[in-house]
Amino acid sequence: TTVEWEAESYDMGGHDTYMHKEISEQADAVDRVLRGRIDDRFSTVHLGGLNLDAREARGVRRIKILGCGTSYHAGLIGAGLIEELARIPADAEPASEFRYRNPVVDPDTLYVAVSQSGETYDVLAAVQELKRKGARVLGVVNVVGSAIAREADGGMYVHAGPEVCVVSTKCFTNTVVAFALLALHLGRIRDLSVADGKRIIDGLRKLPEQIGRILETEAEIKKLAEVYAGAQSMMFIGRVRGYPVALEASLKLKEISYIHAEAYPASELKHGPLALIEPALPTVAIVPDDDLLEKNRAALEEIKARSGRILAIAHREQERADHTIVVPKNENELDPILMGIPLQLFAYHTALAMGRDIDKPRNLAKSVTVE
Ligand code: AGP
Repeated sequence: TTVEWEAESYDMGGHDTYMHKEISEQADAVDRVLRGRIDDRFSTVHLGGLNLDAREARGVRRIKILGCGTSYHAGLIGAGLIEELARIPADAEPASEFRYRNPVVDPDTLYVAVSQSGETYDVLAAVQELKRKGARVLGVVNVVGSAIAREADGGMYVHAGPEVCVVSTKCFTNTVVAFALLALHLGRIRDLSVADGKRIIDGLRKLPEQIGRILETEAEIKKLAEVYAGAQSMMFIGRVRGYPVALEASLKLKEISYIHAEAYPASELKHGPLALIEPALPTVAIVPDDDLLEKNRAALEEIKARSGRILAIAHREQERADHTIVVPKNENELDPILMGIPLQLFAYHTALAMGRDIDKPRNLAKSVTVE
């Protein structure tokens, strides 16, 4: 596959920051990662660059995803998608941890390295160590021809286009969509039915339009960001599919606003962090309309009972929350893709209200190519 990046130049295109430009480009970016890959005849997708034939794909017993920062968070959602759609045990780990713990490298495990830049040293070093031990490694990478793309045995480009802002937004979204494609592909080689394959494809096709609708609510998100911008610290919670969304949203807020933020699985609140809840510590809760809705609502009750303020990201108004950002509903498995987007805008407008240098947050570099 070739990439057409010319469509999106490095020009700011009327936006005040690259971050805002890149958030705004996400409907087109998602359209690009899907383009040319969907096969309606077999309700699957074609991923030619994987270099993994059907027989080899069936032999995969486990999938291990490695990345850093935002790419690691995208990998966590990817692992969930692979388990749900392909029923292959999968997990994600920070590449930086993996490479220092003398990991057991198993021949039936498929390793997947995730990186926007394709140059992050911790990820590259993990790939090189895996290759040295004879493992098969795929790359899920944005920058074409980058070091990780070259070292991997195969993989997928995420086609997010150039990402200039130090904090990753559109590449995160596109990477998660790329994982949905990989999960669908592996699922349809195994036990995912034609009907479920079609259901996921229909969901994927809806994403660009739904992203457009979320972006239209920016003025409302900006007002909410201004309400919460005075907080010293914020808690982010989610459950199963929603937990990596909480992790990523809390990282985004930390990186550009410098507000301290913690992300916890909603179920872990009672095992400790509930002690922190009080009016001065607002909680952002990911509350999708799925099989865990009631469980998530119970967590909101617990927070309210301790006078905590709540901003919910949900598919309908949440009574227990002080504010709700309502996002369009997709298939349960694909909901995390959409739920992260309003929180990118939330972090953006919080940082803006605090006068931060959004495209160049202090102490950070776009790609960390050193140890
Ligand atoms: C994202 O907002 C970050 N600044 C950072 O966590 C980044 O995702 C990480 O350094 C990995 O970069 P990569 O995707 O280029 O490998």
